[in-house]
Amino acid sequence: MNTDNDKKIICVVGTRPEAIKMAPVIQALKNEPWVDLRVLATAQHRHLLDQVLNVFGIEPDIDLNIMRPNQALTTLTARLLLDLDDVLLAEKPDAVLVQGDTTTVLAVALACFYQGIPVGHVEAGLRTWNINNPFPEEANRVITGKLAHWHFVPTEGSRHNLLREGVADEKIFITGNTVIDALLTIAARNITLPLQIEPDRRLVLITAHRRENFGEPLRHICLAIQALAQKNPDVDFLFPVHPNPNVTDIVNKLLANKPNIHLSAPLDYVHFVAALKRSYLILTDSGGIQEEAPALGKPVLVLRDETERPEAIEQGVAKLVGTHVDHIMQATQHLLDDTTIYQAMAKGISPYGDGHAAERIVNVLKEHFS
Ligand code: UD1
Ligand code: UDP
Repeated sequence: MNTDNDKKIICVVGTRPEAIKMAPVIQALKNEPWVDLRVLATAQHRHLLDQVLNVFGIEPDIDLNIMRPNQALTTLTARLLLDLDDVLLAEKPDAVLVQGDTTTVLAVALACFYQGIPVGHVEAGLRTWNINNPFPEEANRVITGKLAHWHFVPTEGSRHNLLREGVADEKIFITGNTVIDALLTIAARNITLPLQIEPDRRLVLITAHRRENFGEPLRHICLAIQALAQKNPDVDFLFPVHPNPNVTDIVNKLLANKPNIHLSAPLDYVHFVAALKRSYLILTDSGGIQEEAPALGKPVLVLRDETERPEAIEQGVAKLVGTHVDHIMQATQHLLDDTTIYQAMAKGISPYGDGHAAERIVNVLKEHFS
């Protein structure tokens, strides 16, 4: 039962990773008697978002149902801003929380700024310092960093990035990344992979979806996987394919119908975590998976030229391999062939969090509003 003194907090989710990483915060805020919580789904993603909301039992109070097939950045941003303006005027929240670096995050931060509503940025301070890479996420983060009131950073490094940009120290809170909260909760469940693989066969898990990899880089990633699968018939390759048509078209064309390559629809988070646990190593351009893999002791080869998540690389549990066929093949083959190299990367250290990030975020808000 809410009272007039309660603080109305809106948690926004737009895409799959935002929902996974915001779920622990939503769950923690639900337990706070002083909070009048609203969950706002922009639904920048539809099916991918709904998969996550189902897993965590979250029912949005408001759903903008924004997604359109093959949506362009400008129209997506414009439509988000118009719809968000109406919602914020009607709801008049005391605070709004956003997560990460998507178009949803940028649009919410801007719409809140125009209406004078304070924004808390979860997973703040990640930077490559190259505004064009990742595109458009680096710009989304930089702009959101200028507009946010609270900056919940995962690591000391991300705190330093914000200080370098002139953000006041007292507005930055090192919390860890909420993805580890979500991961540990789900990983504790005993779920089997929805794919029959002989126990003695090794599994390489693959994902790719970044805009900067569309076209030639993604084609090279696929060619490398094709060659690796042919060279290693004793290894299985599982690739849950992101539904963006820029991804599905190339992946289906180059990797379908190969005996040891398994293409699947996106897995729901429970089954994806089961796949992470069952995997021997991971090839990905995803942000979130760079954080999850080390926490599960799985070596991760990052299919990008730059990353805003340097901590895992510095600690030797992730490696930046880019998108050249030879580089991907060489790094993967080394891990498959050489147990010393493999063991050195499979250390099971978690640079991004300890599973208590959401709790810390809620405590900061509680202190602010009390
Ligand atoms: C978005 C984010 C990216 C994030 C990724 C997570 C931006 C600019 N990009 O990229 O930072 O890493 O989400 O996955 O915010 N689609 C579906 N069903 C879905 C989801 C997507 O069919 O449930 C298809 C649609 O055709 C949609 C397209 O994918 O138009 C692109 O979606 P969009 O959110 O614009 O970009 P992503 O590549 O998913
Ligand atoms: N993920 C999932 N199912 C899949 C692929 C990924 O649940 O088939 C999860 C993954 O564990 C991670 C998140 O989705 O938590 C990453 O999302 P994505 O790679 O789409 O976005 P990014 O992290 O790059 O922004």
